[in-house]
Amino acid sequence: MPDPMLTTDLAGLPLRTPVILAAGTAGTLGEMADILDLSRVGALVTKSITPEPREGNAPWRVAPLKAGMLNAIGLANPGIDAFISHYAPKADAIPTTVIGSIAGFSIDDYRRVAAEMDAIESIPAVELNVSCPNVKHGVEIGADPTLLAELIREVRPLLTGTRLIVKLPPVTTGTPHTITDLARACIEPGEGATPAGPNARPGCDALSLCNTTPGMAIDVRTRKPKIGNGTGGLSGPAVHNTIVRLVHLTHTQIARDTNTPIVGIGGVMTWDDAAELILAGATAIEVGTALFANPAAPIKIAKGLKKWGTQQGVSNLSQLVGAIEG
Ligand SMILES: Cc1cc2nc3c(=O)[nH]c(=O)nc-3n(C[C@H](O)[C@H](O)[C@H](O)COP(=O)(O)O)c2cc1C
Repeated sequence: MPDPMLTTDLAGLPLRTPVILAAGTAGTLGEMADILDLSRVGALVTKSITPEPREGNAPWRVAPLKAGMLNAIGLANPGIDAFISHYAPKADAIPTTVIGSIAGFSIDDYRRVAAEMDAIESIPAVELNVSCPNVKHGVEIGADPTLLAELIREVRPLLTGTRLIVKLPPVTTGTPHTITDLARACIEPGEGATPAGPNARPGCDALSLCNTTPGMAIDVRTRKPKIGNGTGGLSGPAVHNTIVRLVHLTHTQIARDTNTPIVGIGGVMTWDDAAELILAGATAIEVGTALFANPAAPIKIAKGLKKWGTQQGVSNLSQLVGAIEG
């Protein structure tokens, strides 16, 4: 029986709990089932899928750090054709909501994977990983509001029954764009946007904040970078409070007024990290790095959130979204 304290509505998508397994940290699809009871998590996000299969970067691809981890996997994934033939048929049997993650190096890449994922009935939402360099413009799609808006205008009409979530990079300085500029491009992509999807919105149904933060780690004995790619994406406790701020800013500056739910992602190791993101404005949270330390962390986090909700005197955690005082 779903717990009334924990049941979550993510842009009309009912989740059993607000705790979701983050893209790329829980296998391609349901591999975590061997070590985690998936019926007790809110949803899982697949590995990011590109049109063609990708081998990924040379090792080492992951390095443990004092306050988290660094990764440069290089989007290793089976590609959309193999995903459709080998993985999608199994999605139906997974006892939680499956969110498909899409990555690409051009708007056409996203269009192709989005159209294929829209046809999979057991994938009711997709999350666009826009932290990929665009081959034509040479910048990350997710760092440029103009490109982002174009991406949303192109992908939105292809998603007929599927919710659209956009996962933004962690913009901290506002030079040249702020996180709110990026969020606005996804929510209000401008002229020519066709309202589509179950919520009939011209822009995205929800935002995920955020992807990893660029970082580097050096082995001081060998004087070599700790991962093969040289630099990578930082995750875990090291990024948590950066993300709390970005969720708070996005919630108060645009998401709340446009009724756009936020999925908070970054260094959620324990229930109070998740609670902090909820108070900052997140409707749900994703857990990534914590899974490497303890695959059962999502269940423990959900239990802690339930206790917290009771202590705070609410009947459902949604009553605490953005409820920071002062
Ligand atoms: C090993 C690893 C692989 C990842 N792969 C992806 C991916 O394929 N797509 C994506 O959108 N994010 C990917 N991420 C980022 C996570 O989904 C998440 O945004 C990030 O790790 C921050 O959350 P955390 O601090 O809880 O780990 C990956 C992270 C790690 C550690």
